[in-house]
Amino acid sequence: MAIKQRDGFSGKLGIIAAATGSAIGLGNIWRFPYVAGENGGGAFLLLYLIFILLIGIPVMMSEFVIGRRAESNAFGSFRKLAPGTPWWMIGMLGIVAAFVILSFYSTVAGWTLEYIVQAINGTFTGKTHEQLNNNFAEFTSGSFRPLLWQIIFMILTAAVVIAGVKKGIEKYTKVLMPVFIIMIILMCIRSVSLPGASEGLKFLFHPDFSKIFMYDQSFLAQDTIGLFPKINHFFSTINYSIILLALGQAAFSLSIGMGALITYGSYIRKDTPLFSTTVSIASADTLIAILSGVMIFPALMALGGKPDGGAGLVFVTLPAIFQQMPGGYVFAIAFFVLLAVAALTSTISILEVVVAYLKEELNLSRVYATLIGAGSITIIGVFCTLSFGPFKDFTIFGKTFFDLMDYLAANVFLTFGALFIVLFTGWKLGKANFMDEINKGGKIHPTIISVLIFIIKYIAPIAVGAVAIGAFFIKGLT
Ligand code: PHE
Repeated sequence: MAIKQRDGFSGKLGIIAAATGSAIGLGNIWRFPYVAGENGGGAFLLLYLIFILLIGIPVMMSEFVIGRRAESNAFGSFRKLAPGTPWWMIGMLGIVAAFVILSFYSTVAGWTLEYIVQAINGTFTGKTHEQLNNNFAEFTSGSFRPLLWQIIFMILTAAVVIAGVKKGIEKYTKVLMPVFIIMIILMCIRSVSLPGASEGLKFLFHPDFSKIFMYDQSFLAQDTIGLFPKINHFFSTINYSIILLALGQAAFSLSIGMGALITYGSYIRKDTPLFSTTVSIASADTLIAILSGVMIFPALMALGGKPDGGAGLVFVTLPAIFQQMPGGYVFAIAFFVLLAVAALTSTISILEVVVAYLKEELNLSRVYATLIGAGSITIIGVFCTLSFGPFKDFTIFGKTFFDLMDYLAANVFLTFGALFIVLFTGWKLGKANFMDEINKGGKIHPTIISVLIFIIKYIAPIAVGAVAIGAFFIKGLT
């Protein structure tokens, strides 16, 4: 049987490589520690893990199923699978999300390039944690260098996207990614062996549930108060915003909720088993996030830093760890190079969503589509980058432009995107189609499929819906 192929990946390893490359990036190394650090550490990690299992894996699988079944971009896939219905709006939402995400992601990706240069120049040498903090603030509050690096990063991203999906990505994930993981593990070892490191491990692995459940014990203990007011009190004092942030981080880290994996799914060969592919990608991604926490928090606490240091957290703590390592100078250079490459394999997956859409729906050439996509994203990105400097005081809902984009991307776009994707899979695509697609390349046990469908149809939508309602309507925007 002839298998129709678009610009595809070479079999299972190829797509695992590309999608893993998309998933593993700044989300794991930069965003996870900083958001977990600001939101209670252990309790956040626990929620994050629950969401990976309960929502992340089912959504990722749904995206692969949708993309491969339709063999189209994020927008076209919904139009193909549900013609004449408004489901295409999910695809549109994803394309807008790609703009939002890449605009601030490219700011941080640019920082990794600056840090390669700083590592080469030996800028970190001999600096205290405090001085490294100032170093970061000084660099990001400027305009020229952060903007230059952001633009260079966008050019690199566009260059890879123009070259096509297959080349380069596989090689990185198969060769460099294992090297990167080994380096992260070495950093973890150094971090946890610093005197005073145990505080950091405690912060990460001992959940403080009072961060989530904020009910008043004495209120619940009063006999004169009825059951309903007590239940009401319990639910209305839950810290929904932390739950939403954990959900948003899970979605962001797995690259789900905006069609990146629908787009990549459309390039997956028909004989690639989607179930095991999804499980391995999600496992690898989660492992790296946890390792990143183990790398950052013990060292941070040992060196007297605070976990709620915000977006600069890892850019201050990492150089501090390098200085405590033998060969730290070379190690630092290699680490930031690999971090930049990890970011690049993520940025291309985001830009690819826009490019595949422009190319297939508006019939633009790949080059033209890439230039338009990358160009307009860079323009929005400039505002993100400058919001650490000249636009620092310009805030919307109390957030700088960067923080707003970051917040909206994960907690609004990806969260709602994930919700609509499971709704589509469970209620529109249906079990038969899902089963047919998931069983290609190897039969999956019917019980596993039934459980998956149950989660996709009921559990995931209810969970996401409840968190969103709690966070936006009970607690208000935070
Ligand atoms: N998952 C990527 C990371 O962790 C970011 C990303 C989000 C990529 C959404 C694609 C889509 O860095």
